[in-house]
Amino acid sequence: MAASDVIRESWATRIGFILAAVGSAVGLGNVWRFPFQVGQEGGAAFLFIYLAFIVVIGFPAMLVEFAIGRNTKRNPVGALRAFGGKGWEYVGGIFLVIGFVLLAFYSVVAGWVLRYFFASFTGAYTADPGAYFAQISVGWDAVFFHALFMLSVIAIVAIGIQRGIELAAKVMVPAIFFILAGLSVYAFTLGGAGEAYAYYLSPDFAEIAANWQSVLPAAAGQALFTLSLGMGVMITYASYIDEDRNLIEDGTAIISFDVAIAFVVGLVVFPIIFTAGVDPADPGPGAVFISLAGAFTEIGFGWLLGAIFFGTFFLAALTSAISIIEVIVSYAIDEHGIDRRVATTVVGSIIFLLGIPTALDPVLFGLYDQLAAEVLLVLGTLFIMILVGWIAAPRAKAELAEGLEQPDRLTDVWIWLVRVPVVVVLLVSLYLAVLGFGEFLRTELVPWFEIR
Ligand code: PFF
Repeated sequence: MAASDVIRESWATRIGFILAAVGSAVGLGNVWRFPFQVGQEGGAAFLFIYLAFIVVIGFPAMLVEFAIGRNTKRNPVGALRAFGGKGWEYVGGIFLVIGFVLLAFYSVVAGWVLRYFFASFTGAYTADPGAYFAQISVGWDAVFFHALFMLSVIAIVAIGIQRGIELAAKVMVPAIFFILAGLSVYAFTLGGAGEAYAYYLSPDFAEIAANWQSVLPAAAGQALFTLSLGMGVMITYASYIDEDRNLIEDGTAIISFDVAIAFVVGLVVFPIIFTAGVDPADPGPGAVFISLAGAFTEIGFGWLLGAIFFGTFFLAALTSAISIIEVIVSYAIDEHGIDRRVATTVVGSIIFLLGIPTALDPVLFGLYDQLAAEVLLVLGTLFIMILVGWIAAPRAKAELAEGLEQPDRLTDVWIWLVRVPVVVVLLVSLYLAVLGFGEFLRTELVPWFEIR
């Protein structure tokens, strides 16, 4: 029996797939990265393009990953080989590389979250939220919490998929939404709310026209990052489901939920930032941490809300991290017959080591983040779109059609979207991202080496 014929576990409950996919999609991308990108890229202009990209790129691309996964029932590397032929294995190999880079810095941010969870009880962030973030986000403390986070991931994934993932997702998903909705009501009462809403919600098209070269790749990267697309996570998850599911319905539910959470985070963070009189571009990766720590300091029982919020946020990060490492681990198990525990421990340890530099230096942190989101995820998605749009379209269409009520028109529109507009937008974004990344290397990394 070939290693890839090993009988795959399948989701214990019908809702298990949606919860797990939502668990992967909802994470640091929504709560931490989204407000940070909005702040860096000029507010509503970014939000507008981001939402457009969710619909135009994210939705069709998610269906592509679902169709490949459900059709092949393999890990992403095996799935691409089965779908496109031997050469496509190497594209699957890119997914593995992305997983390592992505989880390395993702885990560092998750470590900050864990630190904030503990700090909610001790009140450590109340005196000066800005200074607290600066102090804990860089250095050996950050490495320590990054280690704690990776240990949690390894423990859960080593035990096995059903128990670990579904349980965590079930607890996390509703909680995070209600806490954020409550906080947005508090944010509404703040003095800076009006100004914040104008900044966040009313796009200035002149601004988009002036900054499109950085807004487009940032929005494309964020759209893929937040939906867990471009590295085979959704291929892996869909490999555990049956043919009777309506993938369009499932995709719509997952995306709506994910976007709703990010959107509400903006409604919380920006009123707080404007009320404090801070320029929204200033806090950078600290935006959500600094503003929420400030809010929890101001309101009654803030420490308790803070603990619940950061605890839930930690679980959200955990389910996303699990999905990333699972791509690499399922490859090692399916293709090489490696024991789950061994694979998880080795992969998790390498990721921990790769993340250390990003915990010690903000420039290296920015490098990983920009490389992973704007370059690698876009590249990964582009390859999958070319495979499905141009090479294996009939097979993909037949797969998507399973479980749909009116398959013909829908699958035709879908393939057309994948073939032309999605590929074009991704190509343009990738080109701009590579230019932007070169610029980043010149302006940040070269001086970085000169100083050291
Ligand atoms: N979607 C996750 C988040 O928003 O936090 C991050 C992520 C998970 C990105 C899995 C990519 C991925 F493959």
